[in-house]
Amino acid sequence: MADHIHPIFDRLIPRAARQRFLLQRSCAVWLTGLSGSGKSTIAQQLDYQLFTRGFFAQVLDGDNMRTGLNSDLSFSPEDRVENIRRIAEVARLYVHSGIITLCAFISPTRQMRQMARRIIGEDDFIEVFVDAPLEVCEQRDVKGLYAKARQGQIKGFTGIDAPYEKPLQPHVHLRTQNCSVAQNVEELLQFLLPRIYPQ
Ligand code: ADX
Repeated sequence: MADHIHPIFDRLIPRAARQRFLLQRSCAVWLTGLSGSGKSTIAQQLDYQLFTRGFFAQVLDGDNMRTGLNSDLSFSPEDRVENIRRIAEVARLYVHSGIITLCAFISPTRQMRQMARRIIGEDDFIEVFVDAPLEVCEQRDVKGLYAKARQGQIKGFTGIDAPYEKPLQPHVHLRTQNCSVAQNVEELLQFLLPRIYPQ
């Protein structure tokens, strides 16, 4: 960080005070998985479930990050790393503001997710593998992008001609093929609740 910048907001009102204000403990829930695996849907439904229980969360996903802050980035390997780096920095700020931050990004490599974990901090980082077989994601093809990738209209599409490395030891492993969104959200909620209740 440039040495002429002196962030003082953290010292004026520490994270613990912000968490007490919000009656919760904050963390980042990092959902990784193929396009179409269900990450954003689960994040949005989880957000809703948390809200109805009085928790304050926010979803970061492609819709709000790649259209705004990261609209200058492509899907090249380098730009994906930069995408995730910026998102992790934003998530860190949110978490330090006491907000439960739900991040839904493919984040296809272990190295990228390791970087996110390092930026956000080990203790605040919960990795969730949103797992659906490629065939299922391709069949869902919500945005029609798999078809385009198969036709060669999109190059470097994750799962088709760009890699996806499965997490080795995620905190939570959700299989979305044979489960409803509600079941997946419930499983994640049960894992999360003990961690976000105020101490
Ligand atoms: S990441 O790899 O950099 O983490 P991110 O989660 O932000 O990806 O964006 C993924 C979304 O962008 C996909 O769900 C899909 O809608 C769209 N997309 C466009 N091009 C690609 C591509 N080449 N590979 C994967 N997803 C793509």
